[in-house]
Amino acid sequence: MTTGRLTNLHPALRHGWHPVARSTEVTTDPVAVRLLGEAWVLARLDGRVTAFADRCPHRLAPLSAGRVEHGELVCAYHGWRFAASGRCTAVPALGPGVPAPRRARAAAPWGVTERHGLVWLAPAEPVADIIDLPEADEPGFDSAWLPTSRTTACAGLLADNFLDTAHLPFVHAGTIGAGEGTVVAPYRVEAEGAGFLFRMEQDVANPEDPGVAAGLRPLVQRRVSTYVYQPPFMLRLRLEYPAAAITNTILFCLQPEDLDATGVHTLIVRDDLGGDPARLAEAVHFEQTVLEEDLALQERFTVNGLPLIPGGGAEPEEVSIRADAAGVALRRALTALVARAAPAPALAPAPALASAPAAGARSAGQRISDTEPASAGSASDLPCDRYAAPGDLATAREARKVVPGAEQRRAGGGAR
Ligand code: FES
Ligand SMILES: [Fe+2]
Repeated sequence: MTTGRLTNLHPALRHGWHPVARSTEVTTDPVAVRLLGEAWVLARLDGRVTAFADRCPHRLAPLSAGRVEHGELVCAYHGWRFAASGRCTAVPALGPGVPAPRRARAAAPWGVTERHGLVWLAPAEPVADIIDLPEADEPGFDSAWLPTSRTTACAGLLADNFLDTAHLPFVHAGTIGAGEGTVVAPYRVEAEGAGFLFRMEQDVANPEDPGVAAGLRPLVQRRVSTYVYQPPFMLRLRLEYPAAAITNTILFCLQPEDLDATGVHTLIVRDDLGGDPARLAEAVHFEQTVLEEDLALQERFTVNGLPLIPGGGAEPEEVSIRADAAGVALRRALTALVARAAPAPALAPAPALASAPAAGARSAGQRISDTEPASAGSASDLPCDRYAAPGDLATAREARKVVPGAEQRRAGGGAR
């Protein structure tokens, strides 16, 4: 049995927090956004960000064409008014004081909230909290957003690309990959919340360190890279140069809008720029160049979904090596997400789930993969099931317990 590929429209992705806009973009002027092939409207009602399906319950007109009045969203077509709860408070054609029909509600998602300067939307109960950004609370850090990019590449492949380190000397030969060695040293992927993290240490050139020009430190310095992933598409990379006491962090979050459309939200957070706007703008420009190098290749892929881990002992679609341990962990986490969100009959074949851990089932720091070859010869071809630890094995029943009520929510159409 093959699980298939995870496209931007996979229904399992409803069980996740997704960035849909920057907070500054959401005002009392309704704004239309796309997520998982669906249209939503965002607006501030009484100061709070509110989201509804972008369809009026009356004649399905786009609510994003309406306006906000006295803390309510007013449909542009016949003037029906909706409170932040979605309740219809007035139907002009019925006359004043006549109650609205019972089904006249604007459809709200499971949740909408603001964090890290983004508006996040979860259509159904999410499997993971919004990713942390510890640097936001640390002194001395400056931050800036890259312009939101829109690409035809799918979110799953872009997340994989962010976690992939072997591509740096090839795709980024003109920027961050210049002079980097091609060998990826073994590293360990460890559980972190519902996702995972891994660390790498390398000696790299650090020309941005002012101490190098001043002759205080050598050009080549130790760099510690910590990658953090939370499902479905929330990623963070912290780059630390201990000798220069510099930390650069990148928050990278993806918005699967449509089958061939993904929004890329990238925030850089650095403590080496001293609040200098010109240096911050320069850093944004450099990061944008790096991102464009990635997108130029990702947009040429002829697949529009991330291959998941096949069940039933089937061969994976891709060939993985030890350097791909993080990518395999990503595929496992998303395969688990799909298994958890699937309706009950699809969960029946136990072997398919046996290789897919229930996200969040491990304790933080517990080892879930190891890129050191377990035996001679295993370093060249990495079977995906190498990462299934006995403690990870989830029965269909256990997997379903993790998101109580999720199926019922979907079946009952509560949110949508
Ligand atoms: S379609 Fe919205 S009020 Fe009629
Ligand atoms: Fe890249």
